[in-house]
Amino acid sequence: MKKCFFAVMTAALLFGLGACGQEEGKDLESGGDTQMEGTQTEQVSSSQRDGADLEGGSEGTGTSGAGEGDSLSAGGAVSEESLQDEASQALGLAELYQENFSVGIALPNYVFSHIEEYQQVIVDNFNSITCENEMKPDSLLDKKASQADLENTYLHAAVHFDNCMPAVEFALEHDMKMRFHTLVWYSQTPKWFFTEDYTDDGELVGRETMLARMENYIADVLGYFQENYPGLIYAVDVVNEAFDIGNGDENGIRMKDNRWYDTVGDDFYYHAFVFARKYASEDMKLFYNDYGCMYKTELILERLKQAKEEGLIDGIGMQSHLSVSDDIRFNFMLAAKAFCEEGYEVQATELDIGVKESSKAAFRTQGSKYKSFFRVMRNLQEEGWPITNVTVWGLNDALSWRKDEFALMFDEDMEPKPAYLGAMLDESVWDE
Ligand code: GLA
Repeated sequence: MKKCFFAVMTAALLFGLGACGQEEGKDLESGGDTQMEGTQTEQVSSSQRDGADLEGGSEGTGTSGAGEGDSLSAGGAVSEESLQDEASQALGLAELYQENFSVGIALPNYVFSHIEEYQQVIVDNFNSITCENEMKPDSLLDKKASQADLENTYLHAAVHFDNCMPAVEFALEHDMKMRFHTLVWYSQTPKWFFTEDYTDDGELVGRETMLARMENYIADVLGYFQENYPGLIYAVDVVNEAFDIGNGDENGIRMKDNRWYDTVGDDFYYHAFVFARKYASEDMKLFYNDYGCMYKTELILERLKQAKEEGLIDGIGMQSHLSVSDDIRFNFMLAAKAFCEEGYEVQATELDIGVKESSKAAFRTQGSKYKSFFRVMRNLQEEGWPITNVTVWGLNDALSWRKDEFALMFDEDMEPKPAYLGAMLDESVWDE
C-alpha cells in the first residue's frame, strides 16, 4: 500500500511538481461542508487576529546567505547528507520522524465520510490524529439533555461523544494515537453552557457555579476516554488561547468574548489545569495551546508559572499558523527552545504555512518553509529538547480553514505540493 503513495510522489517529482500549481478558478469549495456551522466566522476572525499578531514577524522568505545557518542552534546536529539519505528512504512523514516525534494530522468528519479518497495518504504519513472540531465543547456538550433535567444538570451539564466517534474508530483501527483538542476555550463553547437555565439568552451564572460546571465537564470528558479507550489520548489541550495582547486585556489574559473570564474571573485557566490534573490519567500529558507563541513567549511563561510550579501542566502547544514571511529558523526555534528550557514539553499542534497566491514560485517558497519547520523541530529534538509532536492542521488546501492561503502540504486533488516534499526534507526543495 505504501508503494502506491510513493509512486504518486515520484510522479510529482518527475513532472517537475506540475501538479502542485492550483489551476486558477478551480472550485476550492469542495470541502465547504467540513466546517461545523457557526465556526467559519470564528475561524476567519481567528485568522485575522493571527495575521495581526504575525505582522511583527521578521521577514525570512528569501534565500539565506551564508552564515545564517549559524543562527539555527541545532544546525550541526545531523549532517545534511544523512538527512537527505533518510528522507529518500522513508515512505512517509511518520516513518521519517519516528525517532524524533509523532506526526499528526487534524481531520474533520468530512474526511471520514469520504475516507477512500484520503486513507492512503493518512496512514502512510501520520500516527496521530486531532479532531478539527469534534472534540471541542460545542461538539461534546449536549444542550437538550442539559435543559431537560435542569435540577440534576445545573452543576453538571450533559455531554455526548457521537461527533468524535469516526475519528476515534479510525485511530483505533489504524493504531494511531490522538491529541484531545480542547477543554477550555473562549470560542466554540456555546453561550448556553454559561447561563442559569442553559438557554442562549439566559443570565450568566456566577464563579462557583461555573467552576463546578468546569470541573464536572473535565471529569466527564477525560473519564470517558480513560474508561472506554485507555491509552488512546496522549495529549490534552486543557486550555486554548487564554492569553492575548491588545483588546484591553487584563494582564495579558484574554477578556474579549471570553465567558470563562466573565463568569469565573482571571484565574479560569489555572482552575482548568487543577481539574485536568485531578482527572487525567498519567499517560495524558496536559497542554496549554496558543497562537502567535513567538510573540508572547514571556507572557505565556509568566502566566503559567504557578500551574507549572504546582506540577499541573506538562507542555506548550505552539499552534504554528504561520506565513512564509515568518522567521522559522530563528524566531520560531528560539520560542520553542525557550519553552523547553523552562521544563515544558513542546508540540507544534496546528501547523499550516500560508502563501499569498497560488503559483509555482509561491509553493516553492512554502516548501522551503515547511522544510525549515520540520528541520528546526527535529534538530531541537536531537539536541535533547522534548519536542514530541508536529501536527499539520488539515489534509489539503481545499479542506483548510485557510483555503485562500493554500497553507497545506497537499493540493485539492491530494497531490503532494513542494510543502510535502519540504517536510520530507527532500533535496528538490531548496534550503532557505
Ligand atoms: C484555532 C483553534 C483551532 C482552529 C483554528 C482555526 O487555532 O485552536 O481549533 O479552530 O483556530 O480554525
